[in-house]
Amino acid sequence: MLTASFHFPKGFLWGTATAAHQVEGNNTNNNWWKWEQEGHTVHKSGLACDWWGGRWKEDLDRAAESGQNAHRLSVEWSRIQPAPDRWDEAALEHYRAILRGLRDRNMTAMVTLHHFTDPLWLSEIGGWETGTVVPLFEKFVRKTVEALKEYCTLWCTINEPNVYALEGYVDGKFPPGQSNVVRPFRVEANLLRGHAAAYRAIHAVQPEARVGFAHHHRPMKPRYSWFPLDVLERNIQFNAINMAFPSGIRSGVMRTPLGNTRIPEAKGTQDFFGLNYYSQDTVAFDLLRPSELFGRRYYPKGSDIAEGGMNANLPEGLFNSIKWALQFNVPILITENGIEDAKDSLRPRYMAGHIHQLWRAVNYNWPVRGYFWWTLVDNFEWERGWTQRFGLWELDVETQARRKRPSADLYAAICKENGLTSEMVQKYCPEAFAGMFPG
Ligand code: BGC
Repeated sequence: MLTASFHFPKGFLWGTATAAHQVEGNNTNNNWWKWEQEGHTVHKSGLACDWWGGRWKEDLDRAAESGQNAHRLSVEWSRIQPAPDRWDEAALEHYRAILRGLRDRNMTAMVTLHHFTDPLWLSEIGGWETGTVVPLFEKFVRKTVEALKEYCTLWCTINEPNVYALEGYVDGKFPPGQSNVVRPFRVEANLLRGHAAAYRAIHAVQPEARVGFAHHHRPMKPRYSWFPLDVLERNIQFNAINMAFPSGIRSGVMRTPLGNTRIPEAKGTQDFFGLNYYSQDTVAFDLLRPSELFGRRYYPKGSDIAEGGMNANLPEGLFNSIKWALQFNVPILITENGIEDAKDSLRPRYMAGHIHQLWRAVNYNWPVRGYFWWTLVDNFEWERGWTQRFGLWELDVETQARRKRPSADLYAAICKENGLTSEMVQKYCPEAFAGMFPG
């Protein structure tokens, strides 16, 4: 029996998000391909989901048939500009075909211009470590937007600049594999300069564009709220990870625990706030971690944790992240949310729980306009290769066969209903029912 439903406003965007290197395959001309060949990743991306070979068509059919009305994808810089003095018009035409494919399926396109990968030629001259990159990125953005503007007005300049800086320059899991205290903030400052230049370039080419970036947000709480060092450390970590880039856009000054950088041209350069939320951290002071500014982030014992321990199911963190993002005074899009779970045993309750929290936010009339699930089909998970499975569809990497997981049906039901009902929760994740529909 239908006892309750949580509905969303008309026109709400429901989609999934993907990234070029994770789905296209054979992206041989970027720094990640090189990183994989050098043995830094569990597996190599290889054919990935073979989108470059044309399988985007069948996957977008899957998305459209499941009621999704939007899709977020990224373009690969190294394909569009294989060398500093060369544009590949065929690559641009390929992306135009995909975007036409979205239009044919009545799906709104959101295009990300930078999602973790850099052309080899760029990384050879220092990537984002120096300001040289800024006019180069701007040129690439201008060329790409010029070519794709017929099909897209929703642009994400850069995906998760904080993760790019942290993984590449603190944890060393992403190329160039460094571990440094100061450099990550320098890199992030250049990403911010690039974002600001891209924002203006996009608006110059397409005045009606809506432009933002995708921020990886981590709500955090101290291990012990009575222990001043944990509280201090929580604030340091929070500011380092969550505030640097957004503070620069808000005020033109990028604020970090290691000092402030004036980037006046960044002020006001976002038309929406793109929020990626996966999980939230507990933070403890840890003397043994100087390169992480003396902080340890973890999930408390007993958390509902996914295989591999990368994400915990903490749906209220999404509500709190949205609440936090209100301070930037622009509409909000959830540009990523999802969980790794090959067996699909946790994913349905993760999905229902997070969409319930999303509904709570929307019902406060907070300006959330859409939601992109990460991701459609299992894709290449960076240094973790194929060990983590985020897809609504399972991918057999050898045969390229796709197999639907139960969560795909749950998400389809949500998209088609434009809401979440008690029947869906009862059917797909009865263990979450009592918490969501008390009484
Ligand atoms: C990234 C994706 C990645 C996902 C899951 C996000 O931080 O934007 O590229 O696949 O996390 O790990």
